[in-house]
Amino acid sequence: MAQKDVGNKIPIYKLKKTDEVMKYYDEWGEGNKYDQDMVDWNYTGPKETAEVLIKYEKNKDAKIYDAGCGTGLVGVELKKHGYSNFYGADLSQKLLDLVPKGLYQKLDKVDLNKPIEEEDNFFDAVMCVGTFTFGHVKPPALDEFIRITKNKGLICFTINEGIHEEYGFDKKIDQLKKDNKWKEVEFFKSDYIASKDVNAWLGLYEVIK
Ligand SMILES: C[S@@+](CC[C@H](N)C(=O)[O-])C[C@H]1O[C@@H](n2cnc3c(N)ncnc32)[C@H](O)[C@@H]1O
Repeated sequence: MAQKDVGNKIPIYKLKKTDEVMKYYDEWGEGNKYDQDMVDWNYTGPKETAEVLIKYEKNKDAKIYDAGCGTGLVGVELKKHGYSNFYGADLSQKLLDLVPKGLYQKLDKVDLNKPIEEEDNFFDAVMCVGTFTFGHVKPPALDEFIRITKNKGLICFTINEGIHEEYGFDKKIDQLKKDNKWKEVEFFKSDYIASKDVNAWLGLYEVIK
C-alpha cells in the first residue's frame, strides 16, 4: 500500500523553521480563525487527549502543564470534566492572547525546543496536543516533560503520524521505556484531523523516578 503523504495535507506542514511557523500562527489567530478552522475541520485532538487523561488522572486539582497550549482548546476540554489547574506554555504570543481569561493559572511564552523554566517534579501531568507535528517541537522536549513531572505523573500527547518516524519520536519513546524513565499506559492511532485524512498517535505514559 502506498504511504500516505501527510506533509501535503495542510499548508502549515510545509514550514520547517520556527520563525516561519510562528508567523503563520500569529496570522492564523487573527479574527479567531484558528479556533474556527479547528471547528470546521472537526479537529478532535483536545477532546480525545482529555478523555484519555481523565481515565487515569482522577484528582481534579491536578496541576497540568499544557505544552503548546495555543488558544487553550485543551483547557476548554479538561474544564468540561471538572479540572481547572492549568499552566499554559506556547511560543505564539498572539495565540496566548486568545486563551479565555481565567482559564489557566499562568500563561508563559516558551520555546519548547529549549530547556523549560519550570521546577523539577512540579506537575501532576503534562499535555502536549497538536504540537508534535511538522516543523514544531522535537523529541528532546520529552526529556523536559519528564523532568518537570512528578514520580507517577502522566504525560499525554499526540504525534502527527507524518513525523512520528521521520523526526525520531518512535525511537525516543522506546529509549525512554528502555531507560525506565516512563511506562506506556496507552498508545494508539487517534482520529485527530480525520476530515483532512491526518491522524495522530496518541500516547499516555506514566513517569518513573
Ligand atoms: C496545532 S497547534 C495546537 C494548539 C493546542 N494545543 C490545540 O490543540 O489547539 C500547535 C501549537 O504549537 C505551538 N508551537 C509551535 N512550535 C513551538 C515551539 N517551538 N515552542 C512552543 N510552542 C510551539 C504553536 O504556537 C501552536 O500553538
